[in-house]
Amino acid sequence: MRVSNSLTEWKQRREALAGTIGFVPTMGALHRGHASLVERCLSENDTAVVSIFVNPTQFNDATDFARYPRSMNADLDLLECLGVHEVLAPEVAELYPSGLRFRVEEPVEENALSSLMEGRHRPGFFTGVLTVVLKLLNLVRAERAYFGEKDYQQLQLITQMARDLFIPTQIFGCPTVRESSGLAESSRNALLSPAARGKAACLSRALAEARSAEEANQWLEAEGFAVDYVEEHWGRRFGAVHLEGVRLIDNVPL
Ligand code: PAJ
Repeated sequence: MRVSNSLTEWKQRREALAGTIGFVPTMGALHRGHASLVERCLSENDTAVVSIFVNPTQFNDATDFARYPRSMNADLDLLECLGVHEVLAPEVAELYPSGLRFRVEEPVEENALSSLMEGRHRPGFFTGVLTVVLKLLNLVRAERAYFGEKDYQQLQLITQMARDLFIPTQIFGCPTVRESSGLAESSRNALLSPAARGKAACLSRALAEARSAEEANQWLEAEGFAVDYVEEHWGRRFGAVHLEGVRLIDNVPL
């Protein structure tokens, strides 16, 4: 496994690659959800590339960015065990040579996908995500890139951006990996106390079992979650909550 920490290094590596390339972008603090994307990527491509980059432009809260879990050494060990060929872990200054001067933005207006749910509650979030994903897709030039349904709205926006901007990489969605309790695997779970981690499983249960979005909202509030939203779109039910100051999202098919 080769790790490129600079773009000069990466560009040299990229020129040396032959065959089909699959790509999994991540922010690190890797878990079984990320591993499932990597395994699919490995099974469908000659070379698997994983990026690890905690993208500052998608955090609208500096504290959230500062305390986002980081575990580079453990992440590299996991990727090596999985059989990944290339890791791209660049520095912020190199990926953003002129800050957010050029960015990908879906104007926030009525009916815009990015004005719903995550976009409404985290202003600027999707601009940060789409911009960094476009940069990474241009750097990696993969045949295929893999994203999780756990972040379903993100997956939809990336798919639509790739289509509208004629990005040659094919975008694939992969199912959400869960703990046995039903809790969706997430890097942020590491920030929860053991008690809160047990309770966090209520989120997926409420989304899956309540008879309406309103009922799910009431269940979650009764359990002590601060609810950002429970909404239904595209035949799925989505929820975002705060627990011990940690923000958790999930969605289930109806
Ligand atoms: P991150 O949260 O690290 O997630 C990286 C990828 O793993 C995303 O496509 C996400 O949907 C997927 N993923 C996370 N948890 C999952 C789970 N439990 N099951 C299946 N897939 C899961 O999402 C991001 O990073 C960033 O926004 C990024 C796209 C890398 C841009 O910075």
